Amino acid sequence: MKPLDASKITLRVATSEDSGAIYDFALIASKDETVPDFLRNSGDEINQKVNNGQGTSVILAFTDHELIGILDTDVKGEKVHLQSLYVRLDFRRSGLASRLVKYAEELYPNKSLSARAVTEGGMRFWNSNKFKVKSWEMEKKK
Ligand SMILES: CC(C)(COP(=O)(O)OP(=O)(O)OC[C@H]1O[C@@H](n2cnc3c(N)ncnc32)[C@H](O)[C@@H]1OP(=O)(O)O)[C@@H](O)C(=O)NCCC(=O)NCCS
Repeated sequence: MKPLDASKITLRVATSEDSGAIYDFALIASKDETVPDFLRNSGDEINQKVNNGQGTSVILAFTDHELIGILDTDVKGEKVHLQSLYVRLDFRRSGLASRLVKYAEELYPNKSLSARAVTEGGMRFWNSNKFKVKSWEMEKKK
């Protein structure tokens, strides 16, 4: 993993000008077979939001102008669901996803945040960020 120089990391909400960078980032994520299909394919949906002017719900992390992490949120009333979270492989375990979540908390200080763990790493990540399990969703294997 690359050491993360915190002073070089920029976090901000997306604008339509980020569309190309999101597209390229989503292409890399779409090849990651360790994550479920919905997460691998969420790039198009995120880009649609950004192009429709709803980019304020998409948080991006850059280093040296390179997009290295995305957190897509769904804001409904007083609730914010953190729905797609993805950090580029070579920047993991350096606190980047935690910073994206913290940014969302600061962006929506009075709303309650929820997330769904869809990978083992994701579950451990949410636990370490003080998210507690509220329910179990069961599916029978085919
Ligand atoms: C899960 C993911 C977003 C975490 O991103 P990250 O930037 O590496 O996370 P952080 O560095 O902020 O992790 C903070 C803490 O969470 C826990 N954690 C994060 N990833 C973990 C993993 N794969 N296994 C175990 N614990 C993990 C650790 O406690 C970590 O602290 P530590 O590194 O000091 O031990 C990233 O691995 C990823 O993009 N995975 C693929 C997509 C995915 O699974 N998304 C989440 C779906 S629910």
